Amino acid sequence: MKIVMLNGQNHKGSSYRIGKMIAEKIQGENEVREFFFPRDLNHFCTGCYQCIENLESCPFYFEKKVILDAVHQADILIVTTPTYCRQMSASLKAFFDLNFDGWMVHRPMSSMFTKKAVILSTSAGSSPKAAMRGVQNALRNMGVPEITRLGMRVQAMNWEGVSAKKKAALEKKTAAIARKLSKGKKPAVGWKTRFLFWSMGMLHRKGWNSSPTETAYWKERGWLDGKKPWKLGQR
Ligand SMILES: Cc1cc2nc3c(=O)[nH]c(=O)nc-3n(C[C@H](O)[C@H](O)[C@H](O)COP(=O)(O)O)c2cc1C
Repeated sequence: MKIVMLNGQNHKGSSYRIGKMIAEKIQGENEVREFFFPRDLNHFCTGCYQCIENLESCPFYFEKKVILDAVHQADILIVTTPTYCRQMSASLKAFFDLNFDGWMVHRPMSSMFTKKAVILSTSAGSSPKAAMRGVQNALRNMGVPEITRLGMRVQAMNWEGVSAKKKAALEKKTAAIARKLSKGKKPAVGWKTRFLFWSMGMLHRKGWNSSPTETAYWKERGWLDGKKPWKLGQR
């Protein structure tokens, strides 16, 4: 399987290490590619909206393309972020901002609908849920139907500081997630993804404030005529 890790930090701390544990435990001959933010995409969205009409007009298109090509090919995405001020890291948020043209309302990549994702966040003491919820919301809106979350209050500033007891618990939790992913089953497409897809389709069908370029994208793929990206497995 092809696995892509999107790391919302440059360093290899607890969040990265736990994500990597999952990647390593997934059985089979896997190819793992890793991206780190800001290292691999050190920009913020300028709000120029050029991407709405033409993705290539984004000032950071070529840097984004390397990452998006890998994401496109991936079966599994592993997204890691430390909890910063109770949210995902700013650099991971910047990655999602820079790819907002790929959100469902705009031009989602059809391959997103056939992927599974795992989200990981560690915090020192507060709940990592809000950070993971933000990532989940972004992935869901990009079309990923099956998302697993693993959060842990590690009470540490780095992996070395994490207690042996917590590390043992993480071994078990990551093994359970990896076991499920190793089965290689098609992702389950739940009502949230179906509902979002239906609502966005409605928006394009009715022409409610939608860009003609984006509506044409939906039309070309037959999505306004009942075709579903998760059924076709289009790439
Ligand atoms: C800028 C910054 C903000 C942080 N904000 C929080 C927070 O809101 N809640 C919390 O429990 N820990 C917070 N922490 C601690 C980290 O979330 C925690 O140490 C985490 O395990 C670090 O993960 P890493 O090893 O992957 O970098 C913060 C740390 C930094 C550097």
